[in-house]
Amino acid sequence: MPDQRDELDGLKRIAAESAVAQVASGMMVGLGTGSTAEFALLALARRIREGLRITGVPTSEQTVARARELAIPLTELDGKGVIDIAIDGADEVDRNTLNVIKGRGGALLREKIVAQASARFLLIIDQTKVVNVLGAKPVPVEVTQFGWKATARRIEDLGAKTERREFITDGGNYILDCDFGPIQSPASLASDLDQIVGVVEHGLFIGLATEVHVGRAEGVRVLTR
Ligand code: A5P
Repeated sequence: MPDQRDELDGLKRIAAESAVAQVASGMMVGLGTGSTAEFALLALARRIREGLRITGVPTSEQTVARARELAIPLTELDGKGVIDIAIDGADEVDRNTLNVIKGRGGALLREKIVAQASARFLLIIDQTKVVNVLGAKPVPVEVTQFGWKATARRIEDLGAKTERREFITDGGNYILDCDFGPIQSPASLASDLDQIVGVVEHGLFIGLATEVHVGRAEGVRVLTR
């Protein structure tokens, strides 16, 4: 009998393969970070071995290293072109709005820059991550090391319990996991977080996802806005 982790991995894999099927030769592709994005890297590497020509824009040093191991060609985000498609995981997705919490892997800043620079932003998730209301999981917030406790107090003033992760981001910052409980208005919370000096970026991705490929026991379902 497969254990629960094997089952979830199977769902992540079919979601990733469904999104990678959208990639065509000549595209610039945003490469996500995390355990589901790993399945997208594997699927891309396989298609490259079969003749696909792409360049990837990685969202973390972890993904840089993995893409190199898999011989996926990489390029830098130079601001001249648009990334054709970015493929990344998520922690929670609101089924109605496709608003998202991301950043459990601590790569949210580069992930959001790549998402914003992409014509299409495809999320790949297993079915357990689809929700009606965001907030069962904490919102990761990247903050400067300088004054981080004061920044945490400001975030707590918005109604969160905060906990600093033992982790330094690729940008040299801290991550605070911020538990707001159910988030009734993600867009206004995102805007409130944007106002706090010391917050570098947060894991609420509002209005960015164009498609969500959900791996389910019955197969992949694609949610669109
Ligand atoms: C990385 O910073 C995150 O945004 C991940 O994409 C997200 O946490 C999903 O990760 P898993 O695919 O590992 O669940």
